[in-house]
Amino acid sequence: MPDIESMTRESRVFNVPDAFSKGAAIPAMEHYDALCAEAERDYEGFWARLARTNLLWSKPFTEVLDESNAPLYRWFGDGQLNASYNCLDRNLHDGNGDKLAILFEADDGTLTSVTYRELHARVCRFANALKHLGVARGDRVVIYLPMSIEGVVAMQACARIGATHSVVFGGFSAKALQERVSDLGAVALVTADEQMRAGKALPLKAIADEAIELGGCESVRHMVVYRRTGGRIRWTENRDRWMHEISADQSDICDAEPVDAEHPLFVLYTSGSTGRPKGVQHSTAGYLLWAMLTMKWTFDIKADDVFWCTADIGWITGHTYIAYGPLAAGATQVMFEGVPTYPDAGRFWEMIARHKVSVFYTAPTAIRSLIKAAEADAEVHPAGYNLSSLRLLGTVGEPISPDTWMWYYHHVGGDRCPIVDTFWQTETGGHVIAPLPGATPLVPGSCTLPLPGIMASVVDETGQVLPNGSGGLLAIKRPWPSMIRTIWGDTERFRQSYFPVELGGDVYLAGDGAIRDKDSGYFTITGRIDDVLNVSGHRMGTMEIESALVAHPMVAEAAVVGRSDEVTGEAICAFVVLKHECPSGAEAQQLAAELRKWVGTEIGPIAKPKDIRFGDNLPKTRSGKIMRRLLRSLAKGETITQDVSTLENPSILNQLGEAF
Ligand code: WT7
Repeated sequence: MPDIESMTRESRVFNVPDAFSKGAAIPAMEHYDALCAEAERDYEGFWARLARTNLLWSKPFTEVLDESNAPLYRWFGDGQLNASYNCLDRNLHDGNGDKLAILFEADDGTLTSVTYRELHARVCRFANALKHLGVARGDRVVIYLPMSIEGVVAMQACARIGATHSVVFGGFSAKALQERVSDLGAVALVTADEQMRAGKALPLKAIADEAIELGGCESVRHMVVYRRTGGRIRWTENRDRWMHEISADQSDICDAEPVDAEHPLFVLYTSGSTGRPKGVQHSTAGYLLWAMLTMKWTFDIKADDVFWCTADIGWITGHTYIAYGPLAAGATQVMFEGVPTYPDAGRFWEMIARHKVSVFYTAPTAIRSLIKAAEADAEVHPAGYNLSSLRLLGTVGEPISPDTWMWYYHHVGGDRCPIVDTFWQTETGGHVIAPLPGATPLVPGSCTLPLPGIMASVVDETGQVLPNGSGGLLAIKRPWPSMIRTIWGDTERFRQSYFPVELGGDVYLAGDGAIRDKDSGYFTITGRIDDVLNVSGHRMGTMEIESALVAHPMVAEAAVVGRSDEVTGEAICAFVVLKHECPSGAEAQQLAAELRKWVGTEIGPIAKPKDIRFGDNLPKTRSGKIMRRLLRSLAKGETITQDVSTLENPSILNQLGEAF
């Protein structure tokens, strides 16, 4: 069982301002309760009603939920539709053709925008170009692009022709990209010459070339390149093509290919605790339904809102709340290429003011770094910007501490904007536990209550529901439309990872610990229960980092743990045993720097350990299992008071406890 202790109780409650509930999609708790009751009473009827009224079907479904092969659930199985049609054509028919779809701000401040009509035309041209290259329904296309309108165009174009996309975050290394391309057997790789971040040009095409050269990517027939900077790149004839060139002569019309409701819209890789990343496979209909509905429910999106989600399209947040949800809901959104601290840490606040953003969605790690900057320099404090356009704030990615919540509420939201603390995962497709801003009273640090239709509870390791006030495992008892369908190519791992037999094999286990408030039943997430780290809202497997360290010629063994960090949430602390003698002093420091750089190239900069400590060995049980809880204590700088009797080599703790 995870060590989840009951935490000090947060007593502040923020009721919904009248001005907000008036006109909200769900304007009071009675409405929330009524939806929950409807789902309790007639689960399939509830979801069928929502799917019929929110999605446009080319072939209506008659089956709702098929549980016969649990946990391989099927939703709306005999229906057909197209996700891109639901995001783009729908808006043209609804009179939104001239409405601004995306306002894109580049790193250097340059603005580009597209209306729904223009976006539709660009998606159609690129979809036709892909078809012309021979990309067909069911093929996999890997997208390795920076934040850009082209990124959304590429995703939507794949959806339009029924190709399954897999976006790889632009910060990932050649090796990470190669693994994903090869696991998927992708036929095309869409990339850019370079990306711009904080004034610097970083190569993407060169990394993509390197990925292919690593081998195992023979399935890739085409590399399509978006010209972002015009920087110098290598070119492979007959394989490489410019995105603008292949799109130029194509027709503005490309009929959206109807696909089955369960057709894989995309695969997105996320770290697991055991080495290899997991390709989380999502469906078309169930995923899109929830992307759209949560835009309405959680973000209460309105026709005149300006929505801004700061996530990258390489993460699930950028899929659901940039590339699909806002478009399906016909919203206007801001999309940003750069980083929150360039040219200075006032960039977010300045952009909110200039673009009159009304709904702002970001991560606690970004808020924490901006708090730090604002406290050091009044020039970049949100108080210096006109943020009166804001009406709703959101957070995602990790627990937000009540202090950070209060700062966000007061200094950014002007004590006027509800904050939706949205708990979800790559695997859940969209929000699962989150406040409804027009209905739910807010408590700082709590993601409050499950959305209607999400049967979440806190259970013990046998699946027994725990009473409120007792910490346990977060579980979802019934399947829901936007849930993960499988792990690409590994159904067994899918079952083992999320549907433990101890819980009956059909209850979804999130992998997080949670506790419900004694009185309100509100959920607070206590963190990951396995060894996965969460650095700056990015989930990483310890094994993945350990494997990278061990891949270094000098390293014999490595164990990685997280320790809490003011800015990044968790910081990576690595304990390393070398093949040769344990180094000290300047030599140790030099080696630590080299290993950090190594991990950066193996996995990506985000995975670089903050701390590296060398030792002659690792604390292990006699069966050879590394005792991570001891390492966690050492990383925190605590003296070990725990039972070490099962430890084979207790003296090692003294050596590892000393920072070099
Ligand atoms: C893990 C999922 C969902 C998009 C971003 C991350 C943590 C996420 C919250 C929240 C507490 C949260 C959980 C979860 N997490 N949102 N509001 N409160 N923890 O997606 O990479 O799949 O990570 O992020 O630990 O399991 P992801």
